[in-house]
Amino acid sequence: MIKIENLNKRIKKHHILSNVSLNIEGIYGLIGPNGAGKTTLMKILSSLISMNAGTIEMDGKSIIKGKYVKQNTVIGYLPQDFMIYPNISLEEALDHIAMLQGMMNKHERKIKVHQAIKEVNLQGHEHKKMVELSGGMRKRVGIAQLLLGNPSVLLFDEPTAGLDIEERIRFRNLLRDLGKKRTVVISSHIVEDIEFLSAKIAVLKNGHVLFEGTPTELKALAKDCVWEYQVEIEALDEMSKYKQVVQVNEEKEGINIRVFSSEIEEGAKPVEPRLIDGYLAAVKGMS
Ligand SMILES: Nc1ncnc2c1ncn2[C@@H]1O[C@H](COP(=O)(O)OP(=O)(O)OP(=O)(O)O)[C@@H](O)[C@H]1O
Ligand SMILES: [Mg+2]
Repeated sequence: MIKIENLNKRIKKHHILSNVSLNIEGIYGLIGPNGAGKTTLMKILSSLISMNAGTIEMDGKSIIKGKYVKQNTVIGYLPQDFMIYPNISLEEALDHIAMLQGMMNKHERKIKVHQAIKEVNLQGHEHKKMVELSGGMRKRVGIAQLLLGNPSVLLFDEPTAGLDIEERIRFRNLLRDLGKKRTVVISSHIVEDIEFLSAKIAVLKNGHVLFEGTPTELKALAKDCVWEYQVEIEALDEMSKYKQVVQVNEEKEGINIRVFSSEIEEGAKPVEPRLIDGYLAAVKGMS
């Protein structure tokens, strides 16, 4: 468990993170629009950048030294745009990284590299070059190289961005497996990505924490705020002008529109909120 309290990060005069307090555990979803501060927070946790103020504890012990998170804290970070050694095989790349991490015994390294390859389901692809791998496979290599360092916390920045549907599903399953033994933080601006993975979610916007809690609690923020209209297609344009339309579905009977409103909508039926509705309620400050 990572406990963050009143974390502040400024770059020049800009407040990038303002009094961020979070209790990170299990498979944890960090969601927020572009520029919310998700990447910045992950970089601080993985000691790539400094912080200005705040405390961070892991399992009850402070992991800060000066303005940085201690380097040896076994937090593994997979950046948004991971790529290593494009022209050597993935097995060689991992072997090389293991060596850089100080594993000098060749046999031990081989065992460790194969364990990591197995854990991310890349068996059979060991001899492919990085450039020959799909986007999803490359991300798996990124995770494999983190596993070499035995991290107890894994930070994944937008891990499913750019993956097709099949890869996305495979990747989700992998993240779920990895989360059985470790704390896994997944950042995304796509709510669906974390919907079925995370037991706990934080919503970040402009460097502020707007929400932290379970998916059910997030959904509850939009309670009594989601309405459904059945309309003709012609009415849609007019309606989107003065209502906050969150979803449009075409159906046999006409168009089904989900509208967000904290007031009673005449002629619409109230519906149960979904996670995306709760997220919108949080970022738009409607709760
Ligand atoms: N080195 C930097 N110098 C100046 N501003 C920065 C720097 N790094 C980040 N920022 C600013 O900090 C804010 C948060 O950026 P960050 O990359 O953490 O957001 P994010 O939530 O990861 O967004 P995205 O969803 O687009 O990846 C943004 O407004 C960004 O412009
Ligand atoms: Mg980012």
